[in-house]
Amino acid sequence: MDEPIVFLNAVSTTYEGEFVPALSHITLCLRAGDRLAVVGPNGAGKTTLLEVVNGLLPATKGQVHVFGQSIARHGHRLRARIAYMAQDMFFDASTPFLAQDVVASVQYGQIGVFHWPSRADKQRVCEALEAVDVIHLRRRPIGRLSGGQQRKILLARALAQGARLLLLDEPTANLDPEAKLDVARIVCDVEDRLDASTIVVSHEGGPLLDDAQRLARIEAGTITHEGPMDALRQHLIGQAV
Ligand SMILES: Nc1ncnc2c1ncn2[C@@H]1O[C@H](COP(=O)(O)OP(=O)(O)O)[C@@H](O)[C@H]1O
Ligand SMILES: [Mg+2]
Repeated sequence: MDEPIVFLNAVSTTYEGEFVPALSHITLCLRAGDRLAVVGPNGAGKTTLLEVVNGLLPATKGQVHVFGQSIARHGHRLRARIAYMAQDMFFDASTPFLAQDVVASVQYGQIGVFHWPSRADKQRVCEALEAVDVIHLRRRPIGRLSGGQQRKILLARALAQGARLLLLDEPTANLDPEAKLDVARIVCDVEDRLDASTIVVSHEGGPLLDDAQRLARIEAGTITHEGPMDALRQHLIGQAV
């Protein structure tokens, strides 16, 4: 069988200054092409899990491997290959960037801040904006866009990055039902185009969860259930909120 895209082996982590671990003994495996939905109440550890996967928060016990490599050892290099949409990421009206700048900024890691993007780099940004159906918004200040539009720009950013692992933290929270569906459709499209795998976190149900192959429920820092979506859907989605 293929090597997992994400593998957590008995991972625990405790925030600095805290005594109780925010995550305890988590073992998880995400296979290529799969979408894993992580549900659980507020404060359960869902955001913490994503931060441990991308290495922004170190595991105090256990091992985290992404694309077969240790995130503790190769975090910087691996994070360039991971698209992370943080929870509540929202640009206010004073943010001095255009939508297209936000998408293009994902390339700084590859081309450097002090280099002009090439024609091919700019092309990639345009293609990503087109794929997500927001090319018409490219010259608008990002902070003037609605929450749903900003979410789409961030998905275009992930697409321009070409990352084959998407970590999405509550990507449809506070969106209206139509925008939720739009974002779910775009995530499917990005997964297909890039052959990407996804971990999507949500404290509510919704179309993004419905299409996941696997489901995990976290409570108080531990996984209470994990398995194929079909087997757990009935049992868990009702408790997801
Ligand atoms: N920076 C931090 N320092 C200390 N504790 C934190 C920090 N961030 C989160 N926590 C705690 O860790 C637990 C899990 O939080 P979080 O992962 O944000 O939960 P969720 O995303 O499921 O709502 C909570 O008890 C929260 O208060
Ligand atoms: Mg959270």
